Amino acid sequence: MKLKDKVALITGGSSGIGRAAAVAMAREGAKVALTARRAERCQEAVDEIEGMGGEALALPGDVADAEHVEALVAATVERWGRLDIVVPNAGINGVFAPIEDITPAEWDQTQNINVRGTFLTVKYAIPHLRAAGGGSIVVVSSVNGNRIFSNFGFTSYSCSKAAQVTFAKMAAVELAQWDIRINVVCPGWTKTSIGENTFARDIDKIKIPREYPEGMVPLQQRPASCEEVANAILFLASNDASYVTGTEIYVDGALSLFQG
Ligand SMILES: NC(=O)c1ccc[n+]([C@@H]2O[C@H](COP(=O)([O-])OP(=O)(O)OC[C@H]3O[C@@H](n4cnc5c(N)ncnc54)[C@H](OP(=O)(O)O)[C@@H]3O)[C@@H](O)[C@H]2O)c1
Repeated sequence: MKLKDKVALITGGSSGIGRAAAVAMAREGAKVALTARRAERCQEAVDEIEGMGGEALALPGDVADAEHVEALVAATVERWGRLDIVVPNAGINGVFAPIEDITPAEWDQTQNINVRGTFLTVKYAIPHLRAAGGGSIVVVSSVNGNRIFSNFGFTSYSCSKAAQVTFAKMAAVELAQWDIRINVVCPGWTKTSIGENTFARDIDKIKIPREYPEGMVPLQQRPASCEEVANAILFLASNDASYVTGTEIYVDGALSLFQG
């Protein structure tokens, strides 16, 4: 029970990596608040955690909406009296397209959810992490924008994922005075539902053909499971990482070293 009596807030906790992190943290004794836009999927995650004997609450909404994020943090603290762990994980791939074809609205949607959502989640959590005497924030970024720059059409997504890492490094220095750690997990190819929010358009117009040999992930030639990514989040969230802040952990089976 590495997180006994801790309170964790996870955005995008209804699916994929966020849901696996929510379940993993609940198993380690944390009480878990989560959000995502689709209420029924939030409820499924709450049911799963309660079915394990854990405690969870969900407040569905959009992480790009400041009022929603503020209300989510407030509801969490109202229910359990504190906040210790924050995982800004909610994200979309959005529209993958040539730069000249991406519309300003498409660009903004990706930035708003991935970057503004991270900022809002951390911003509203800080007073409560300070009140708890410290805490741990684990941002879910990506290999894209940090080690991989060769996925055609991913420009808005990659910029958003790079911004999350810079945000975490700035925040690590600023928040250290209150014993708040902030780190980043950069997953590679992971089996989740992210394909549902991925829209590729006209990528062939810009693609430079490349050939990867069979089995392009060096380690075990397979995607990560959500649980494997969640294990890294759990490590950074827990006291096992008590002196780790401002750093990234790549969970990608060396894909980015091979493909980057
Ligand atoms: N899967 C991969 O291969 C991979 C690789 C690298 C990084 N990542 C990162 O991992 C994170 C989690 O993605 P995933 O792969 O687990 O995808 P996923 O299964 O689609 O989960 C994404 C979660 O975020 C929520 N979400 C999306 N937009 C939201 C918004 N505006 N407000 C609130 N919640 C929102 C989704 O719920 P709703 O749609 O109902 O809102 C869902 O709960 C993302 O930041 C992604 O960039 C994934």
